[in-house]
Amino acid sequence: MADTFDLTIIGSGPGGYVCAVRAAQLGMKVAIVEKWPNFGGTCLNIGCIPSKALLHVSELYEEAGHSFPQLGIDVGTPRINLEGMMAHKDDVVKSNTSGIEYLFKKNKVTAFRGTGTISAPGKVTVTAEDGGVTEIATKNIVIATGSVSANLPGIEIDEERIVTSTGALELSKVPGHLLVIGAGVIGLELGSVWARLGAKVTVVEYLDRILPGMDGEVAKQFQRMLTKQGFAFRLATKVSGIEKSGEGIVATIEPAAGGDAAQIEADVALVAIGRLPYTQGLGLESVGVELDKRGRVVTDNRYSTNVEGIYAIGDVIAGPMLAHKAEDEGIAVAELLAGQAGHVNYGVIPGVVYTSPEVASVGRTEDELKAEGIAYKAAKFPFTANGRAKAMLATDGFVKILADKATDRVLGCHIVGKGAGEMIHEAAVLMEFGGSAEDLARTCHAHPTMSEAVREAAMGLGDGSIHI
Ligand code: FAD
Ligand code: NAI
Repeated sequence: MADTFDLTIIGSGPGGYVCAVRAAQLGMKVAIVEKWPNFGGTCLNIGCIPSKALLHVSELYEEAGHSFPQLGIDVGTPRINLEGMMAHKDDVVKSNTSGIEYLFKKNKVTAFRGTGTISAPGKVTVTAEDGGVTEIATKNIVIATGSVSANLPGIEIDEERIVTSTGALELSKVPGHLLVIGAGVIGLELGSVWARLGAKVTVVEYLDRILPGMDGEVAKQFQRMLTKQGFAFRLATKVSGIEKSGEGIVATIEPAAGGDAAQIEADVALVAIGRLPYTQGLGLESVGVELDKRGRVVTDNRYSTNVEGIYAIGDVIAGPMLAHKAEDEGIAVAELLAGQAGHVNYGVIPGVVYTSPEVASVGRTEDELKAEGIAYKAAKFPFTANGRAKAMLATDGFVKILADKATDRVLGCHIVGKGAGEMIHEAAVLMEFGGSAEDLARTCHAHPTMSEAVREAAMGLGDGSIHI
């Protein structure tokens, strides 16, 4: 039997490890249980971090081939060294995951390697890969076991020809034709990686639009940009089967509303139709922790489950499956357990699609404001009218700001453009402080920056933008 802990966290993804560090900083004796060889969960090992490494390399490769000549740089035709690109990705993952080990040591968090099962409230059993069992006694438990890729019925993932995001992060060669199932964040990000490296990419999406949940106008314009980059879209279409054939695959597709089936041949199929909460092996049934219809752990506004002393955060509970949402919940639950007033403002969680250009969003979309019957005003500013964007050949996209018609309070901001994922935070901070479009418009912005477009959009909600 190990020592008694104040808090034991199961899962070391961004939810779990951040919770562990904050709880230790607040004076708790903390244990964390992780079944994978490296800490950091989906995000650091097979998600955010490796995908951004590949997006960065492929973006530079694409720029070297296409923008460099226009900028007066002559490097000849660039060649991609796939092994080198993958080695960079693996180095970045290693450096980040070992950083978590350092944080645990620094904050005196005790790590247990193995699968954690809640044997009773206050008791976690850890089963190591070699079968060794350790019992942990603990005052509180946080479930932070994350999510796994969803699959289509009857389709066998081999992570080589029929892959999830995990396989798509380590293909051994650039596919001639990549079929992406699902026009969500994973499909468009990883589709972009392989498209830039030379693959033909066809995206089959069940709905009649891409990026559901993002602002409709943004999604429409962004789809046009991706089409110009060579993406082919089959919207309102579903995949009803995938067979391996020769060296590749053949997928059967059908109109979502019903109709004649057709076939698409490709080298690799990426199934990117969402992720499912992961609670397998936790023993939740025996301790009576309630799950909802979608398999998510049900929590109240203090992250408490229906069983006293058992909490849950991150992808395994309701809300957007985002690393920063998991992290913020990790901090909030640690603070609540320490008697502080931890909370997460779910109205101001930015979302970023790390394509080129990036798509970033915070707050309400126009579609949501219309549905809620809120009187709003909207203004847009295009990067074609921004000096810095012209200098960088980054004029694709725009900033759109939505504000309350009566009070001018900013309700949402949506940006398509280079660096959108960084720029969105000025809107996020503004919204956290309940700021108005006028507050943003009167804030001096350095020139020349892409961020001036954010200010110009805010000006458009008052007396008018200067540069359009
Ligand atoms: P996870 O990160 O999934 O971690 C759960 C951990 O729990 C894992 O390490 C698992 O091994 C462990 N575990 C599970 N069960 C047990 C058990 N019984 N015992 C012990 N350990 C257990 N989000 C963003 O915000 N930005 C991005 O750019 C982004 N990119 C992504 C790209 C891809 C390809 C994918 C797949 C996801 C991406 N995400 C991104 C989503 C992000 O990865 C998740 O939202 C985030 O990792 C959720 O964190 P979590 O702590 O809830 O769970
Ligand atoms: P997603 O929910 O973003 O998109 C899935 C898409 O698949 C949707 O458009 C959906 O309509 C479509 N779909 C569902 N079933 C289908 C079917 N049978 N046929 C065709 N299309 C179908 O999920 P995705 O892209 O798998 O990502 C999972 C999670 O990971 C997301 O919640 C996302 O937040 C997170 N993530 C975040 C990233 C970021 O923040 N940059 C990057 C990658 C993932």
